[in-house]
Amino acid sequence: MQTGVGAVLNTAAVAPGDTVLVAGLGGIGLAAVQGARIAGATTIIASDPVAERRDHARRLGATDVIDPTSEDLVAAVMARTGVGVDHAFECAGRASLISTLLDACRGGGTTTCVGAPALDEAIVIDPAVMFTASGKRLLGCLLGSVNSRREIPRLLDLWRRGRLDLESMITHRGTLEDIDTAFADLAAGRGIRTVLAI
Ligand SMILES: NC(=O)c1ccc[n+]([C@@H]2O[C@H](COP(=O)([O-])OP(=O)(O)OC[C@H]3O[C@@H](n4cnc5c(N)ncnc54)[C@H](O)[C@@H]3O)[C@@H](O)[C@H]2O)c1
Repeated sequence: MQTGVGAVLNTAAVAPGDTVLVAGLGGIGLAAVQGARIAGATTIIASDPVAERRDHARRLGATDVIDPTSEDLVAAVMARTGVGVDHAFECAGRASLISTLLDACRGGGTTTCVGAPALDEAIVIDPAVMFTASGKRLLGCLLGSVNSRREIPRLLDLWRRGRLDLESMITHRGTLEDIDTAFADLAAGRGIRTVLAI
């Protein structure tokens, strides 16, 4: 939870009224959607090929959802915002998506890379167009730029006040004996997060 929420509140510092795109709606992306809602973003566009995850994002505060397998992501974002989003978050771990999100940002907008693509994946960016002419920004994100001593109490406080939904992020529970099933679910994208109690 700290990585997704922290990416929005700390790394990118989304402000009230901003427009946000979250691409990839696993545990990290759904937490980023919640972070955007907490930050006061007015438009929160959430993209994932999995319908169940898009539905989950809507329940957590997404105002628009996109299926990237049936809609062109950049065109869909432009249709909804006119100029592109203020902030885009790559939460799928696909390097190629980073370039797409840079295109989906407005001039001066920020793309934050939260996902961890494979080590042999690289991207090509035209710096003159993206950075010099458009003033776009590209940020890295390690664990939501979080200072845990400060952030964990803040996250717990948001949960106690009903502003952070932790319960719906836990889709399976079990004991340590269920660990193989839990990893298989993780690999297959079943549910969101599993909690194993010893
Ligand atoms: N930056 C950090 O400190 C940090 C910390 C933890 C995890 N991560 C990384 O964050 C990423 C997300 O983690 P997770 O646990 O949510 O993973 P996950 O596998 O549960 O979720 C990824 C989601 O991306 C979706 N997806 C795949 N291709 C897509 C596309 N083209 N467009 C939109 N969505 C797409 C999948 O359907 C899935 O729902 C991983 O790469 C993980 O390694 C980074």
